[in-house]
Amino acid sequence: MAKVRMGIIGIGGRGVGFARMFSNELKSRVQLMALADPNRERAEASFDYIGAQADIHTDVNEMLARKDIDAVMVTTPDYLHEEVCLTAFKARKHVLVDKPLAITGRGCLRVIEAARKADRLLYMGFNMRHDVVLQRLKKLILAGTFGEIFSMQAIEHYNGGRTYMSRWNRLKKFSGGLWIHKGSHDFDVLNWLIGAPRPVRVSCFANVFTLNDRHFPFPLRRNVKPGPTCSACAYQKECPDACPVAAAADNADVRTRSYARMFGDEAARNDGYRKDLCMYLSDKDTHDQGIAIVEYDNGATASHSEYFVTPVSNRHYLLEATGGHVEADLHGNWIEFRPRWSQDKVTHNVHRPTGGHGGADPRMAAEFVECIRSGHRPTASGIDGAWSVAIGEACELSRAERRTVEIKEVLDVKSPLLKK
Ligand SMILES: NC(=O)c1ccc[n+]([C@@H]2O[C@H](COP(=O)([O-])OP(=O)(O)OC[C@H]3O[C@@H](n4cnc5c(N)ncnc54)[C@H](O)[C@@H]3O)[C@@H](O)[C@H]2O)c1
Repeated sequence: MAKVRMGIIGIGGRGVGFARMFSNELKSRVQLMALADPNRERAEASFDYIGAQADIHTDVNEMLARKDIDAVMVTTPDYLHEEVCLTAFKARKHVLVDKPLAITGRGCLRVIEAARKADRLLYMGFNMRHDVVLQRLKKLILAGTFGEIFSMQAIEHYNGGRTYMSRWNRLKKFSGGLWIHKGSHDFDVLNWLIGAPRPVRVSCFANVFTLNDRHFPFPLRRNVKPGPTCSACAYQKECPDACPVAAAADNADVRTRSYARMFGDEAARNDGYRKDLCMYLSDKDTHDQGIAIVEYDNGATASHSEYFVTPVSNRHYLLEATGGHVEADLHGNWIEFRPRWSQDKVTHNVHRPTGGHGGADPRMAAEFVECIRSGHRPTASGIDGAWSVAIGEACELSRAERRTVEIKEVLDVKSPLLKK
């Protein structure tokens, strides 16, 4: 079978990892044809990271007009996903779009419609669904091991200050807000685990508690101001949160140096984009901690907590079901079930493979290619993308207006586009 001829749109942190995967691990099934990014210097600097070269287009439309490209991966900032996907479907490409599908529920529906009209694959890049622990958990749920789920808690600990507050992600106009940009991942996991029930309303509390000028992790010297970027900061050496891109050493490995060039002075001259704004001082309208509560149409409930100031990185889940209590831990790679009316405890230890996001990224990329080559059904679709974005969007509204928000306020829940 012929190789899938791929283009990547947006060759930043995420795009470069997949470009590398397509042209190395998956090279027997994929030909990396081109990279599209308005920043030519950044795209050129990515070749060492990728370990291969490809054509560069600074105009996305020019790349999409090419007849020798079958499929594209969209890894631009979130606010561009909708527009880029619409253009890609117009050009009849298959699309793997990283989360979120769009930054509004309505935008998601427009993308689903465009995919259907074009009769092309819309593959939703929810890599969490390819996590080995969550896949085992889903299998156990489908086998009826726990009975019916009536409540779920998802807790994410991720030291995300640097990731979210030093660049575009910190502003809603680019990311939709962290409940969409980040939360859509986790809301999708909850929707996926519970199965058929649909979310109907949400409530949420969230704010910036730590990443502000009251919580610098070093004592200030008299008349010496921190920031505005890590590279320009007088406290770079003593700050435990100093950006590693700014600090990349000359003797670092080839990929680290390539990445540092992608976000270094030369590339920044083109678009001013650096990833090292001081995360304590940057202007931001997203949160660094919060809790969201969701109610489903069968009466089941769920909560999701996001903590972006923490020493650990983990996702932990607690499920309450008619058959007992379940916990799953992605860092520990285990699932534990305590059946009702018993003192028993059944533990499942799961072997974790290597690769980005605990092995989930290569599994997802491989599945995308299989979907194109052999009609394999995607693990996550545009419909899943729409429901999770709608929960995130409702959370952002709940936070702003301090009220419970109905999902139907942000998504046409009766739309035929939401039917499989
Ligand atoms: N699934 C995951 O685990 C995961 C993890 C990180 C990021 N992401 C998603 O990946 C996407 C990219 O995030 P990132 O961290 O790589 O961002 P990034 O800032 O590192 O890279 C974005 C790239 O897009 C380019 N770009 C900007 N405007 C463009 C345009 N009009 N056309 C084409 N390219 C354009 C930028 O020049 C940059 O190179 C986001 O949607 C993000 O939500 C997903």
